Amino acid sequence: MRTGQESIESWVGDVEFERVGLVKRAIKTVLINPFANYAPAGMLKSLLRFGKSELAAANWADPGGWRSMVISYNGRPRQIADKILVGGGSMAIALRNRRRLASRILAALIEHAPSEPVEVLCLGAGPGHIIMDALCQVRRAAHATLVDLSGDAFEYGRQLARELGLEQKVRFVQGDVRDIRTMLDRPPHVVKMLGICEYLDDEHIVGIARAVAEVMDERGSIVFNDLSDRHGTDRFFRRVFGLHMKHRTARQLCDLLRQAGFDEFAQTAEPLGVYRVIVAHRESRANRTSKG
Ligand SMILES: C[S@@+](CC[C@H](N)C(=O)[O-])C[C@H]1O[C@@H](n2cnc3c(N)ncnc32)[C@H](O)[C@@H]1O
Repeated sequence: MRTGQESIESWVGDVEFERVGLVKRAIKTVLINPFANYAPAGMLKSLLRFGKSELAAANWADPGGWRSMVISYNGRPRQIADKILVGGGSMAIALRNRRRLASRILAALIEHAPSEPVEVLCLGAGPGHIIMDALCQVRRAAHATLVDLSGDAFEYGRQLARELGLEQKVRFVQGDVRDIRTMLDRPPHVVKMLGICEYLDDEHIVGIARAVAEVMDERGSIVFNDLSDRHGTDRFFRRVFGLHMKHRTARQLCDLLRQAGFDEFAQTAEPLGVYRVIVAHRESRANRTSKG
């Protein structure tokens, strides 16, 4: 089955999101974000060091790495600084919303894949929270290959898989997603590129998507996300965390994926408007032929 806008909306209709009320949003816009963005970076770093922020330490060690993601996902930090950043920060809330949205969409794509076992390829997977959430929701036989640069993400991921009873369903491949051509021994039905495009250049995104499109059949799908600056703290992330993310609209990303041989885009946004999760399909042979 190919995913239209209607299917995606029906899959995610009852996902429970975290939301930010009007008053909190106003306080963030008028007070918190300007302070975070424009107070001297040295002072903010000292405050975070003094407050023993685990989120800041994780970003200083590996900006945008899997540990900071896991701290945001867990949402129950011990330190006061992290209670503010993780509990109330728009980016952390949006990340948790994206996780819920994406795992639901992946589960539906697995349920609708044309044959079993369903193969899912997860690029820049970290320890694999999102795909493991999805695998726990499906009845069909499915395997996931998780590719990441970081070996220690996989130690954590193996432990997570054991706790969830998924050890036989996931395998971990340490490597650079830009070398994806060497890792395509199992043609995937579904490719997951969540939380990774914001760290890649356009030509890498196109190269990776083209490589997976070449080995997929026509019913194959790809799931990815855009990133808007509506979280309002990009300047803070750059100056204080050393985190340089590439913000791209859904349209810009779809244009890149179209160049690589995908079409039929459908998308849905989490309520803060920071992320959209987008699904596309391998372009049909007929379309490719008619383009010449
Ligand atoms: C922000 S985390 C996202 C993790 C996971 N996809 C999620 O959304 O929960 C980004 C991950 O991409 C990995 N990564 C970044 N660049 C990569 C590359 N070129 N090849 C493989 N992994 C990469 C990092 O090691 C990190 O685990």
